[in-house]
Amino acid sequence: MARLILGQTLEFEGNPLREGLGAVRHRARGGVFVEAARIVAVDEAHALKSSHPNADIEDMGDALLLPGFIDAHAHYPQTRIIASWGKRLIDWLNRYTFPEEMRFGDADYAAAVARDYLDASSSHGITTASIYCTVHPESVDAMMATAEARGQRMAAGRVMMDRDTAPDGLRDTAEASYIESKALIERWHGHGRLTYAITPRFAPTSTEAQLEAAGTLWAEHPDCLLQTHLSEQPEEIAWVAALYPEDADYFAIYERFGLAGPGAVMGHAIHLTHRERAALHESGTSIGHCPTSNTFIGSGLCDVAGLAEAGIPVGLATDVGGGSSFSMLRTMAAAYEVGQLRGRALHPAELIWLATGGAAEALRMEHHIGRLAPGQDADIIALDLASTPIIAARAARAEDVWEAVFPTIMMGDDRAIARVWIAGAPVTPLG
Ligand code: GUN
Ligand code: ZN
Repeated sequence: MARLILGQTLEFEGNPLREGLGAVRHRARGGVFVEAARIVAVDEAHALKSSHPNADIEDMGDALLLPGFIDAHAHYPQTRIIASWGKRLIDWLNRYTFPEEMRFGDADYAAAVARDYLDASSSHGITTASIYCTVHPESVDAMMATAEARGQRMAAGRVMMDRDTAPDGLRDTAEASYIESKALIERWHGHGRLTYAITPRFAPTSTEAQLEAAGTLWAEHPDCLLQTHLSEQPEEIAWVAALYPEDADYFAIYERFGLAGPGAVMGHAIHLTHRERAALHESGTSIGHCPTSNTFIGSGLCDVAGLAEAGIPVGLATDVGGGSSFSMLRTMAAAYEVGQLRGRALHPAELIWLATGGAAEALRMEHHIGRLAPGQDADIIALDLASTPIIAARAARAEDVWEAVFPTIMMGDDRAIARVWIAGAPVTPLG
């Protein structure tokens, strides 16, 4: 069905962190013409109306049309332990995360949480995410089947964790993780809009044999993603150094096993050495930046602007449930606050880029999603820039679109997500 969605529009022709604001075009009265689940044209509203006189019109008024938000790193099995109090990373995993993840061998439980997770994330404007499941294949089946039924472009994978640092009940073996991941790739990868993400949890919970198996699997299925965690907390980095005394640093372990390069997404990547920054860049490895998690778990202040300016693909990420919010607006606000604490105020265009086109590049999906442009999938959101009286009053003083959108970035929540379209169809009901 042909659909003409009208509102303000932002079109990114490049990465504003590297190319400045010249890479972004704003239309105060623009529109997106959608047909067969794709964006066909983005233009002035009057031009689209006259060239497509028979299209169904959805006029969103002054709302800002954006591509759907893309969450570069999240754990759906942590939905019911989000906002758990008082622990740093290793204790947080042992006290809250691992006991909850043990429940996902139950297919019904996994399916219920997958539904809750996708309801919550889409009502916050997230249309694609790269998701960690658990060691149980049932947890992957639940997420993939639910995402497919909703027509969503999603990446997800079975967590691999075979070292004795992982608890009984969640520990697999190198061989089982290889066989089960491969079967899941065959079942789901490339099915509809789904991508499989090979998911060794992080170096401390895998043996070298398992990291090698993950590297073999990725070499056999190079168009899958590879996702893991890197350099999140100082205690974790010291633990890794003790477990892998031969490697120069944390990232060198992943490099040694072929777990680096385009399509490899490192969650967090806060405490990097100069060598690691250079190696991330040279290899084309991406970063999922998780600012609400990095503050909530007390991990540190990531130099996200420096990493992105250096040419590393960076996507914004909620890291639910180490991250404390499903909202990409709240996550952008946290990225802004972390930038301020580091002395670099991220511009609204940069924050929006990290949550859309930047995250698409980090997940190697930029040819499909992340921008309002012809040929892209029609995953679109309409952002109400006046969703509360205080935000509306602040936006009314704005002299340009950036000043108008910034109060929504800093103070907005799911009330600001006026409408979401996935593959050209409106998502109903909105949560
Ligand atoms: N490192 C290894 N596993 C996890 C996880 O589930 N969450 C976060 N934040 N860090 C991790
Ligand atoms: Zn994570």
